Amino acid sequence: MEIRVLGAAAGGGFPQWNCNCDNCRAFWRGEPGWEAQTQSSIAVSADGARYALFNASPDLRQQIERTPALHPKTGLRDSPIRAAVLTNGDVDHVAGLLNLRESQPFGLYATSRIQEVLAANTVFNVLNPDFVDRRTFRLNEAVELKEGDGTPLGLTLTVFPVPGKVALWLEDKNDTSGNFGTVDEDTVGLEISDGSGKRVYYIPGCARMTDDLAARLDGADVVFFDGTLWTDDEMIRQNVGIKTGQRMGHMSISGEDGSMAAFRDLNIGRRIFIHLNNTNPVLNREAPERAEVAAAGWEISYDGMSVSA
Ligand code: MLT
Ligand code: MN
Ligand code: ZN
Repeated sequence: MEIRVLGAAAGGGFPQWNCNCDNCRAFWRGEPGWEAQTQSSIAVSADGARYALFNASPDLRQQIERTPALHPKTGLRDSPIRAAVLTNGDVDHVAGLLNLRESQPFGLYATSRIQEVLAANTVFNVLNPDFVDRRTFRLNEAVELKEGDGTPLGLTLTVFPVPGKVALWLEDKNDTSGNFGTVDEDTVGLEISDGSGKRVYYIPGCARMTDDLAARLDGADVVFFDGTLWTDDEMIRQNVGIKTGQRMGHMSISGEDGSMAAFRDLNIGRRIFIHLNNTNPVLNREAPERAEVAAAGWEISYDGMSVSA
């Protein structure tokens, strides 16, 4: 199985268009150690030719352009992208679907909750229903990924709910319970397999580690995991936001409740942070936080990273 990181950054990307936080300003000034990262997406292939896209970022057009494996190959109209899979309804994960118009066949996979959200937004009707087959996957069930015409891609997913939050633009302000109308199907994690016995996980958003999740991930070959923030309050401390990571549905990398601590005793081949917010210090190759993450056995993903499993 081949996994290509198309976009390593969280919503907004790095640098973010209107941001002068410490990180973005350093990038705008051309200081060393920083590289721009586009928004959250990976592409996975079992055969090295046909790909499933996992999340469709607003930067998808640019991501395709700089990834030759995703260029049209034969015939007048063609794309190696044969399926798209969504893990939630965040703007950084669905807006790129609009780039996939032009009557190109593919299978579009999401939970019923996210399929309903797409159906309710008529702008997504640019995905011609004669060509784009919307398919609903169920929690805790295996699903074989298929092209638009039903040809198997050689990839199987197991979909499971993870602690998270409804997309920002779908929050229910009338929900007095404090969880903004979030339901289980709003945020899922995925186990991706190609029949070789390898277990790859893609979890770009997760609010906390649970015993179930830890047990599931133990023994995995590769885990891509929510690396949005270094500390829960970093956006507030940097004066670029009023929300904590917890409020946004993301657990932080550092600290007692952080992902480094939560993964410490798990046996995992490669652990890789993805969905990095532009405020996160690990984006800088020379930052002490980056060295700390590396010492704990973690890698930081980057646009163009390729991982084999
Ligand atoms: C998130 O991951 O929390 C969202 O992508 C934030 C956003 O919608 O910008
Ligand atoms: Mn996001
Ligand atoms: Zn910034």
